Amino acid sequence: MSGLKQRETEVRDLSEALTSFLEAYPSYGKTSAIDELREKDYARLDAQGHIYLDFTGASLYAESQLVRHLQLLKGNVFGNPHSLNPTSSAMTDLVERARNRVLRYFNASHNEYLAIFTQNASGALRLVGEAYPFNENARFLLTFDNHNSVNGIREFARSKRAPVTYVPVELPGMRVDEAVLERLLDEPGPGEANLLAFPAQSNFSGVQHPLDWIELAQNRGWDVILDAAAFVASNRLDLDRWKPDFVPVSFYKMFGYPTGVGCLLARREAIAKLRRPWFAGGTITVASVQGDKYYLHDSEAAFEDGTLDYLALPAVEAGLDHLCAVGLPTIHERVTCLTGWILRELADMRHSNGEPVVHIYGPLDTNMRGGTVTMNFYDPDCRFFDHRVIESAASRARISLRTGCFCNPGGGELSLGISESDLDTCFAQPQKRLTLDDFRHCIDGKSTGAVRISFGIASNFADAYRFVEFARTFADKRAGRE
Ligand SMILES: Cc1ncc(COP(=O)(O)O)c(C=O)c1O
Repeated sequence: MSGLKQRETEVRDLSEALTSFLEAYPSYGKTSAIDELREKDYARLDAQGHIYLDFTGASLYAESQLVRHLQLLKGNVFGNPHSLNPTSSAMTDLVERARNRVLRYFNASHNEYLAIFTQNASGALRLVGEAYPFNENARFLLTFDNHNSVNGIREFARSKRAPVTYVPVELPGMRVDEAVLERLLDEPGPGEANLLAFPAQSNFSGVQHPLDWIELAQNRGWDVILDAAAFVASNRLDLDRWKPDFVPVSFYKMFGYPTGVGCLLARREAIAKLRRPWFAGGTITVASVQGDKYYLHDSEAAFEDGTLDYLALPAVEAGLDHLCAVGLPTIHERVTCLTGWILRELADMRHSNGEPVVHIYGPLDTNMRGGTVTMNFYDPDCRFFDHRVIESAASRARISLRTGCFCNPGGGELSLGISESDLDTCFAQPQKRLTLDDFRHCIDGKSTGAVRISFGIASNFADAYRFVEFARTFADKRAGRE
């Protein structure tokens, strides 16, 4: 077939697939404003032929966000905030405006929540972990399925002799058995410091854990970290309705730009419990060398070490305005429709001998799940394709996706069937540090990673369709011969 004929066939197939998709998901039609936005504000995607499917890794910025930020910087002179001189106070005003905008966006009352700017969600989690009053009478409870920046808090807990317990996640849905969670919540430590951490949305499986757990835990004396980093890009988190004690977010995951700025939303009551292990420039009202004393601010400033990335903060306001202009319900609806469609297409895809091409980890419908879909590819003899092979092939097709375990080792170990005894055997090997290849060799026969795609603010049907067509190229292909 000539190049032109092939292109015509592809366009016709896409258009037919779109027609049957719209019949199955009529509410997608109500999100057409995003198609206009994509042509205008995200034109670079199609101009450069990108199929971007890593919105859980990072959202994409709209061109209009950049223009607004650049105009602000070009038209003003800004100094380091917190002085009284004119360029400084102009900047201080914008920093505080951004802070108020963040609180308003999450519907968080100023009397109840603080918005502390951090470098990213991990920085927000570290602030809590290092200052939480763990001791031998405390408990740290966390779901098996958590990002490493939440897992890492266990090291702060253990260093202060607080017991750490993982709440199991069950296959195949990768959800928690609530009876087990309740039983664990019914066993807080004898002290005042009990901390539960779970993701509002898993960055591995897309599972959305119930937000009712917040109250369930708080009623039993637990403080709650709700890791909202992967959730808030296409879901509304209303802090007037839900009252977690600590909420870490990264703004680039919500609207792509700026990077390097995140936030810890913290309940004033809960933050009063934290004991910072140090002080730094910007965090104190008074510090003395000879007097050997310091007093921390009693506001957000107590947790904002040194100089903020102040020039980036007005871009947070622009990003939140952009999300509101597009509308979270619209983004959410579009992501849900695309996710529902692709889950069915991938789950139904078969080799000629009837064996599945793809195995999806986590729920196969859109009930309580977001737009993150994680999978591995298998050949007709049920042997997996190395996720790195899939990544290379996807890159050649200009598809941006993520492979590996996405900093969520619990999700990976569970879904890939890597057991505690496999891990004990591998980590007990004589060499000091295992490389990924040593590890792969050690758990021979099992995959060490998976392939993740995710939808977001600028996704369209063509992106989903192209990935399905890409996946279909693995039908009847043999692993190890690629
Ligand atoms: C659920 C979740 N929590 C925390 C993080 C950490 O975010 P950051 O790397 O921006 O600190 C991520 C990043 O992927 C995430 O998906």
